[in-house]
Amino acid sequence: MSPSQNMDVSLPELYAHDTWMPVFERLRKTEPVFYTSDSPNGPYWSVCNHALIKQVDADHRRFSSERGGITIVDTVIDNDENGIALAAKSFISMDEPEHKKHRLAVAPSVAPKNLAEFQPLIRERAADILDNLPIGETFNWVDHVSIDLTARMLATLFGFPYEERHKLILWSDLTTNVPQVTGDQSIDMGERREELLRAAQAFYGLWAERANQPPQFDLISMLIQNPDTAKMNEDPALFLGTILLLIVGGNDTTRNSISGGVLALNQFPEQFDRVKSDPSLIPNMVSEMIRWQTPVIHMRRTAMEDVELGGKLIKEGEKVVMWYLSGNRDDAVFDRPNDFIIDRPNAREHVAFGFGVHRCMGNRLAELQLQILWEEILKRFKHVEVVGPVERSANNFIRGIKTLPVRVHPL
Ligand code: HEM
Repeated sequence: MSPSQNMDVSLPELYAHDTWMPVFERLRKTEPVFYTSDSPNGPYWSVCNHALIKQVDADHRRFSSERGGITIVDTVIDNDENGIALAAKSFISMDEPEHKKHRLAVAPSVAPKNLAEFQPLIRERAADILDNLPIGETFNWVDHVSIDLTARMLATLFGFPYEERHKLILWSDLTTNVPQVTGDQSIDMGERREELLRAAQAFYGLWAERANQPPQFDLISMLIQNPDTAKMNEDPALFLGTILLLIVGGNDTTRNSISGGVLALNQFPEQFDRVKSDPSLIPNMVSEMIRWQTPVIHMRRTAMEDVELGGKLIKEGEKVVMWYLSGNRDDAVFDRPNDFIIDRPNAREHVAFGFGVHRCMGNRLAELQLQILWEEILKRFKHVEVVGPVERSANNFIRGIKTLPVRVHPL
């Protein structure tokens, strides 16, 4: 019997209790590509080491994002006549040549030169949160900082009404929280649809407003100014799908990188001391935080033909799951992979942003947000102390931290 027989690494408990580490360590050593014949998500292949994950991610011709979707749960596309609930049709779950066409049209909005324009506002809004934290009290960093900051940043990026920023988080959560993903059958799909209609209306409103204003530096204005996307509003499915992808892409991921970073610096306090005495280490520390946390646990593909991988034969039509979380702890690439080392020379080699044509489009934006946040934290606090138990999400797709009780200690 193979070492991984009957092993199901998609069990949410592994992530809720953070017990996945020895499991994947053994799999990387014994059987980095293996088959699970039975799981709540049906049969699937797992790819566990860094090199093979990159190989699959790079081979987009034989491993499709479109056929079956990008999560271990099969994507169910709800063809609503209004274009609602079609977020699954956004370019993250398209294959070439469609994918490239859509991605290239939107990508300039988060290119480094445009991001530079956002910097002052991102900094101002991060500073505002940090200046209003309750000193001397224990509070949940996730609610007070990670979620609020992500909402403020999303509002900033979209030029969305600032006081209504909580709606962006609501719409992002609604997009991802479908019963097929969460297992929660109590979700009212009718209400969900109504709310997503409101999201579409709000963004159509913003679009109309911006189209009549002088060019500004927000994602909507950038989409309007780009000839390739200037008419995107005429296709409701593409319009809402693209906007929701940008919101969802930057929500749970950035949120959990922020929370994971605080946790990492508490588990490795000498690294906290190092960055305090040398803030020039922040950019590399940010990459190491993203590697260490790996907010997106997996991405899924479907084999378009029979493929031999790591000595195994994957058959056409089978589901293939790349476990990024495992790839980022591969000691063939990362020395002492479970340690958090802020000046790790190859921290940027992590696969937390994926690899190949679908590599995260917002990666520079995410890094910029985290960099600014940590610069502002270090200007104010000598310690962000974790003072209670961490509560994690039972989720095999997003490595989520729900509760992180902290106290902040001003300089
Ligand atoms: C630390 C934060 C983030 C992480 C860890 C992350 C992770 C990922 C991953 C793993 C993928 C799929 C890569 C693949 O299949 O090879 C992806 C795609 C994507 N991400 Fe991110 N992401 C982050 C932040 C953001 C932000 C802030 C945005 C907002 C613009 C964003 C937008 C996207 C988009 C649009 C795609 C689809 C790209 C494509 O299919 O061509 N992400 N991200």
